[in-house]
Amino acid sequence: MIPDIYSPATDRYDNGMAYRCCGRSGILLPAISLGLWHNFGDVNPLANSLAMAHYAFDHGITHFDLANNYGPSYGSAEETFGQIMKKSFLPYRDELFISTKAGHDMWRGPYGEWGSRKHLMASLDQSLKRMNLDYVDIFYSHRYDPDTPLEETLQTLVDIVRQGKALYVGISKYPKDKAEFAYRYLEERDVHCLLYQGRYNLFNREPEQEGILRQAQDNGTGFIAFSPLAQGLLTDRYLNGIPEGSRMSHNAFLKKDTLTPATLQRIKALNAVAARRGQTLAEMALAWLLKDEAVTSVIVGASSVAQLADNLKAIGNTAFTQEELEEINNI
Ligand SMILES: NC(=O)c1ccc[n+]([C@@H]2O[C@H](COP(=O)([O-])OP(=O)(O)OC[C@H]3O[C@@H](n4cnc5c(N)ncnc54)[C@H](OP(=O)(O)O)[C@@H]3O)[C@@H](O)[C@H]2O)c1
Repeated sequence: MIPDIYSPATDRYDNGMAYRCCGRSGILLPAISLGLWHNFGDVNPLANSLAMAHYAFDHGITHFDLANNYGPSYGSAEETFGQIMKKSFLPYRDELFISTKAGHDMWRGPYGEWGSRKHLMASLDQSLKRMNLDYVDIFYSHRYDPDTPLEETLQTLVDIVRQGKALYVGISKYPKDKAEFAYRYLEERDVHCLLYQGRYNLFNREPEQEGILRQAQDNGTGFIAFSPLAQGLLTDRYLNGIPEGSRMSHNAFLKKDTLTPATLQRIKALNAVAARRGQTLAEMALAWLLKDEAVTSVIVGASSVAQLADNLKAIGNTAFTQEELEEINNI
């Protein structure tokens, strides 16, 4: 049977999604964005990836976050997204804000990773082909490269914008002093750094503790949080063991030894606070990040439409009492 042509929900901008201004820029991003690091590779059923992408867009998620090596296999999440573009999203390209990144290992040999001009230029060209796009909305340097002069990496970002292959640029996981240098270098060339992408969640508060969140805010750069659910730890996923098919059961990125008795105890205590707030733990974990206006958006991952639907409910209540915040801080 020929599948129906996708027609997005007509109320996609009226059913609760909040949009936040991305630093000092004209860009609004949805409070919740969808990341394609996992569950969109060629090992995953296309039907599920497609269903999640449709559900996201139907509910006001306009921002999809990718990188060259998301999969597995490397490149296949971008290929899947390219298929989704072709099948469904092409007429809505101007309603979408699509990112990609380069810097982590992607292909063999000396030009297959890190921050050289050679790697970044070639990688972005490959990404555009895989995704069936003429340009991305934002291109990131995925990680700071200690062995390439930072000027080389940053000038490449500037040139990518000048070439029209990306509308905006961003940096991911840069140490604070390198971020400061990057903000200044880009600004001096009239390319404002739109976003800093960093790991931030209830279990990892480094952006707050190291001052990276405020630094971005002071620079007029948005902050977008990745792994906001600590890859699933900050949900009900592992409350009663390690379920078959979960990220921890099959993926090297979330190791079983992270679920120590002490961590499980913290998860249970946080779950109890969430229940009192009338939220799932996933909803509360996202709401906790979104309580701070300096957080432009949180990039969630999901393996099912049901998880995505749960995560979207977080937007309904992002206010915390002082007592709740203190209790959470003491867990
Ligand atoms: N810049 C960088 O270096 C970098 C690094 C990592 C990630 N990222 C970006 O951030 C995105 C998100 O990262 P992440 O996947 O680690 O995010 P996450 O949201 O912390 O974790 C996602 C995982 O949590 C579980 N989950 C999600 N919602 C749930 C719910 N409501 N109830 C129960 N379980 C739930 C699912 O695990 P199961 O699969 O077990 O169901 C899902 O795959 C990535 O896709 C990528 O775009 C960027």
